[in-house]
Amino acid sequence: MTTAAPEPVIQFEDVCLSFGGECVLDGIAFEVRRGDTLVIQGAAASGKTLILKLSLGLLRPTRGRIRLFGEDVTDYTDSQWNDVRARIGVLFQEGGLFDSLTVEENVAYPLLNQKRAPLSEEEVRRRVQESLDFVELGHTLEKYPSELSGGMRRRVGIARAIVTQPELLLYDSPTAGLDPITATTIMALIVKGRDVHHATTVMVTHRHQDGEILDRYRYDAATGRLVPAEPGTTRTRYMVLREGRIVFLGTPAEFDACEDPYVRKFSSR
Ligand SMILES: Nc1ncnc2c1ncn2[C@@H]1O[C@H](COP(=O)(O)OP(=O)(O)OP(=O)(O)O)[C@@H](O)[C@H]1O
Ligand SMILES: [Mg+2]
Repeated sequence: MTTAAPEPVIQFEDVCLSFGGECVLDGIAFEVRRGDTLVIQGAAASGKTLILKLSLGLLRPTRGRIRLFGEDVTDYTDSQWNDVRARIGVLFQEGGLFDSLTVEENVAYPLLNQKRAPLSEEEVRRRVQESLDFVELGHTLEKYPSELSGGMRRRVGIARAIVTQPELLLYDSPTAGLDPITATTIMALIVKGRDVHHATTVMVTHRHQDGEILDRYRYDAATGRLVPAEPGTTRTRYMVLREGRIVFLGTPAEFDACEDPYVRKFSSR
């Protein structure tokens, strides 16, 4: 008996993107299925963030088709995109917290700005508290982002990404600029966010070790810790971009076996 593969959550078909005639993404084709983890690596300016922005409808492809949750969203209107975005949590590369809002208001933002059934004030407060507790920052509700350390701001960003319990989570360089200990804490939260809510996860990173954590660990709810995952069970794949093209897309084993010198540069060995 064969089990049906989970349905695709993201599908790019021959996607190209140009700015002023200059092609910055070319022939991008990949698929992420429900529950999969995709780790995107590549040199600076290779197009990693652009792939996330296309997946959020913040940019439109010049050519090709994009499907999200099985729907062709390529020609969606802004209002249709708003409905799609309500199903996606995102941590932007620059953090994207609003400096003029408190931590509580920042985390509440996606809940208050989704068009779906409005939540009561009490329910919003409960969910915000729950998300901040999740990242162990439940005591910072009244603070402003400028009063937090870089690592704490990143954690608030994660709380905001997960507050709607989205089916799809996108993280752009979540550990950039952090010390190794804080980076590991952030990665543990990302694994936990994936495994507690069974979210499909796409992460851009400069550190291959971050991808390995997603591949090799799972969150154990009983102990509240990360434990080694059975090989292959996290369904992690790596993508490597070079100058707007995918030069590698495959499993961790295929990544380890890849001899391409550019791809090897992104290995932790
Ligand atoms: N709005 C824009 N207008 C014109 N060019 C853009 C725009 N956004 C991105 N680019 C260009 O597209 C290329 C890819 O950008 P992208 O932000 O995806 O890089 P990246 O891989 O995320 O890099 P980094 O690791 O530095 O974050 C870059 O050359 C960038 O200058
Ligand atoms: Mg980027």
